[in-house]
Amino acid sequence: MKIHEYQGKELLRQFNVPVPNGIPAFSVDEAVSAAEKLGGPIWVVKAQIHAGGRGKGGGVKLARSMDEVKKYASEILGMQLKTHQTGPEGQKVNRLLIEDGADIKKRVLLQRSD
Ligand SMILES: Nc1ncnc2c1ncn2[C@@H]1O[C@H](COP(=O)(O)OP(=O)(O)OP(=O)(O)O)[C@@H](O)[C@H]1O
Ligand SMILES: [Mg+2]
Repeated sequence: MKIHEYQGKELLRQFNVPVPNGIPAFSVDEAVSAAEKLGGPIWVVKAQIHAGGRGKGGGVKLARSMDEVKKYASEILGMQLKTHQTGPEGQKVNRLLIEDGADIKKRVLLQRSD
């Protein structure tokens, strides 16, 4: 079964498992509204494809301003993202997850298996 990260996180949320707040976006405008709704001050713009290794492939970016959200959303949407799990042809990015940016130091403590 293939589900996207944002769909998996929605399910987890329904069962009260703590996950970062996030909103899916299908366009740059939607990414900006999602970021406004979330409030910041840090957001993560995440390509939603059915493969791991997105960060290493350039499909996950930390944005520190609304301009950066816009910039990364326009760069990542539509890109042919190549990771070790996509094969050499990559996968086209048609949707994003805009997520609350977590404090990396905290994340290291909470999530050692990353
Ligand atoms: N909510 C977040 N806040 C801060 N940083 C994040 C957040 N989500 C992801 N990141 C950073 O982006 C990286 C890539 O995201 P993630 O691990 O979810 O994707 P992946 O497909 O497993 O990519 P990779 O294999 O590169 O880890 C993470 O290792 C982390 O450093
Ligand atoms: Mg990872």
